[in-house]
Amino acid sequence: MLSVGVIGAGDIARKVHLPVLLIMPDVQVTWVFDSNLDRTCTVAKANGLRAVDPCSPAELPPCDVALIAIPVRVRGACCDTFSARETAVLAEKRFAVSAVEHLAISERFEPHRLARGYMRRFYSSTRPLRDLVRTRPFGRPVRMKISEWNRTTGSHVDRSYLDDSRQSALGGILSELGCHSLDVALFITGARAFDAQACELVFDGAVDRKISATIRLAESEYLPDSGLCLDYCVSWLDRQTNTMTLEFENYTVWSEIRPGGEVRTGDVSRPSTAT
Ligand SMILES: NC(=O)c1ccc[n+]([C@@H]2O[C@H](COP(=O)([O-])OP(=O)(O)OC[C@H]3O[C@@H](n4cnc5c(N)ncnc54)[C@H](O)[C@@H]3O)[C@@H](O)[C@H]2O)c1
Repeated sequence: MLSVGVIGAGDIARKVHLPVLLIMPDVQVTWVFDSNLDRTCTVAKANGLRAVDPCSPAELPPCDVALIAIPVRVRGACCDTFSARETAVLAEKRFAVSAVEHLAISERFEPHRLARGYMRRFYSSTRPLRDLVRTRPFGRPVRMKISEWNRTTGSHVDRSYLDDSRQSALGGILSELGCHSLDVALFITGARAFDAQACELVFDGAVDRKISATIRLAESEYLPDSGLCLDYCVSWLDRQTNTMTLEFENYTVWSEIRPGGEVRTGDVSRPSTAT
């Protein structure tokens, strides 16, 4: 039996994580903590959990796994505490606000004690697309396109930390939504390096609402030496498809970006004609 402590009683913890954790037979959620005491108590009462009184991260009760579901900018002290205790951590995305921070956190945990919530790797089209890149039945991959628009958060809330610059730190569509598709692009292609050749961000105050970029993905044994061009556009401002397209030498395939998305051929803009 694994004991899990939950830090953050916000939307993602109560709508997504807790319903799953509470039905897992080998998991026991032993406590919940939020800096907002009302939230701690409400979520604890609703789920029959122990509510932890206001305290510093170092005073949080022990657990086997700590779920860190608070905004990225305020996670530092939790990472300090749990890395020192050698407690495993499942950190919600986004994991860090920079590559330097990403490495600094990663180095403090043994690899098997650190997990992140990039669940799109488990969408049904991700593995087949990855296999097509690796086994090349349609020839070498030559171009990838990702477009996504009318999504905010998995909990379907578009307020809270997103518009709060103190909590979100560089928050906006790139970090909230874009991190998932960029992660999947790297996962599918096996690329270990990238080069943003053109990039445009549209800001609304501190929040970026649109990013369009041309990115060269490289350093993968599955890609040509010249790499692969990724046309990338993720936007809260434009109407476009929620799709990922892979052009190979001999064929083009695409998939809707959703958990049960299928790998299809045909015109992306007319899904009813696709096979
Ligand atoms: N909502 C989603 O769909 C979604 C999806 C994936 C990842 N995430 C990530 O999960 C994190 C939380 O998202 P959310 O939607 O639940 O936000 P939310 O604003 O609903 O909840 C965040 C909670 O964190 C608490 N909090 C803030 N600072 C704290 C601290 N120092 N110690 C303890 N609690 C603290 C707040 O009181 C709040 O209850 C964010 O980093 C977000 O990027 C959210």
